[in-house]
Amino acid sequence: MSPATTGRHGLLLDVEHLCAGYDDSSQVLFDLCFSIHAHQVTTLLGRNGMGKTSTIRCLTGLLQARSGKIVFQGHHLERTPAHVIARHGLGLVPEGRQIFPRLTVEENLMVAARTDFSNHWTLESTYALFPRLRERRHQGGGTLSGGEQQMLAIGRALMTNPKLLILDEATEGLAPLIRQQIWDALALLKRQGLSILIVDKNLDALESLADQHLVLEKGRMVWSGDAAAFKLHRHDVQRYLGV
Ligand SMILES: Nc1ncnc2c1ncn2[C@@H]1O[C@H](COP(=O)(O)OP(=O)(O)OP(=O)(O)O)[C@@H](O)[C@H]1O
Ligand SMILES: [Mg+2]
Repeated sequence: MSPATTGRHGLLLDVEHLCAGYDDSSQVLFDLCFSIHAHQVTTLLGRNGMGKTSTIRCLTGLLQARSGKIVFQGHHLERTPAHVIARHGLGLVPEGRQIFPRLTVEENLMVAARTDFSNHWTLESTYALFPRLRERRHQGGGTLSGGEQQMLAIGRALMTNPKLLILDEATEGLAPLIRQQIWDALALLKRQGLSILIVDKNLDALESLADQHLVLEKGRMVWSGDAAAFKLHRHDVQRYLGV
């Protein structure tokens, strides 16, 4: 990516004083401020119900911000519909995968295909990343194993050729071997320079992958730091996570 498209210092996403909630009485995000830089992996950590998915919903236009700013490469996203945000280059692998069960693997991938920014991610490159998807390409999405569905959800997000890939609990409930395949794929994506925001519970895998960590508690940012600070303060961070 050129400096012109990534912004100053490779700034990709800037969130300022973000507040959001689901109805008039319940606010779930309070004054969140953070930045994501190009080619970096950022984690969003926190116990259950602390606001990780809600934050991701705000970024991707599925939950409207009540106040604050979300700026992605100069585009204000606070009032932007989800399908337009996707076109700006945010690719979501949602909690629970949400693939289309009645479409085949290949149809699931082709529905998402978009080549506005780059042609890097095609059926071929997605199948090269997850050969299992090639083997299953004519099979219905709903007949896949959990791990295969997760690969499909990641492949579908990649087919939009995103500038920022966002994964919400992408290894949740998977067998160790499949989980490792997902981590290996994410490490490869990072080496290729893709920017990634990831929610996950596996701190060891996140520690070796991520450049920046953000910790939420009750919708507030209670800790943030780079990889070195995370290593140094991991015990403090773990207390926020209850592990
Ligand atoms: N659709 C909704 N309507 C009302 N409240 C919601 C809704 N979705 C989430 N919440 C509430 O918002 C808060 C944050 O939830 P969120 O799903 O963002 O947490 P999370 O950190 O992703 O949790 P988990 O680790 O369990 O996925 C919780 O109190 C939750 O009950
Ligand atoms: Mg969640």
